[in-house]
Amino acid sequence: MPDNNDITSNCSSATTAKTANRPEIIQPQSPGKITFLKEFIRSPKNIGAIAPSSSDLAQAIVKHSAAAQASNILEFGAGTGVFTQVILRDKKPDANFIAIEHNDSLSKMLRQRFPDTAVVTDSVENVNQIMQQHNMAKSESIVCGLPWTAFSQDMQNRLIMSAISALAPGGAFATFAYWPLLFLPAGMRFRKMLYKLFTRVEISPIVWKNLPPAIVYRCIH
Ligand SMILES: C[S@@+](CC[C@H](N)C(=O)[O-])C[C@H]1O[C@@H](n2cnc3c(N)ncnc32)[C@H](O)[C@@H]1O
Repeated sequence: MPDNNDITSNCSSATTAKTANRPEIIQPQSPGKITFLKEFIRSPKNIGAIAPSSSDLAQAIVKHSAAAQASNILEFGAGTGVFTQVILRDKKPDANFIAIEHNDSLSKMLRQRFPDTAVVTDSVENVNQIMQQHNMAKSESIVCGLPWTAFSQDMQNRLIMSAISALAPGGAFATFAYWPLLFLPAGMRFRKMLYKLFTRVEISPIVWKNLPPAIVYRCIH
């Protein structure tokens, strides 16, 4: 029997948007999408996508990050809040949660959208300081939306080391990669790095309902 976090189970089991006791997942409205596109045009290397992720990808990545079981949760590169919304729905009521987003316009939008959530406008490279400032212990769950293939090798290294330094032993780091970009040098380099640095790495089935389709990496510290 696969456990709840078994990434080899079909992602579609994590895609139910509305059930009797779960609120509906609301996609960002047009202003959010327009801001995202504007920020992409302004800084394509940092944003790394022309549109926010789909609800299917959000549900798959949050499931595989085990955020529902965690007491300390981090989100990296929260964008318009597509993953944030699912984390807030699924997390334990008393779990600590910090969303980190270094783009000013997007983090301002996140604060308006989630006024009760700790949204920090900063780079993930400063995650340890951010955790200290918020009295947060090492995290058992990181949900990461950073655009890895847009980064240089040096940047990939620095950011992945920040993630590892923020994780509790056995903690889960979930991130995604666009399926068509997996075989580009930056995509292959990133995958190699994950296998080298984490105790265990699992890859989800392709989430087709995303533009472009994507896979989720679930990496255990
Ligand atoms: C591909 S978008 C993903 C946004 C959202 N999670 C989603 O899936 O729709 C990547 C996000 O990571 C943010 N980002 C990039 N580098 C970052 C860094 N070093 N620290 C924090 N956020 C960063 C970008 O500003 C952007 O909002």
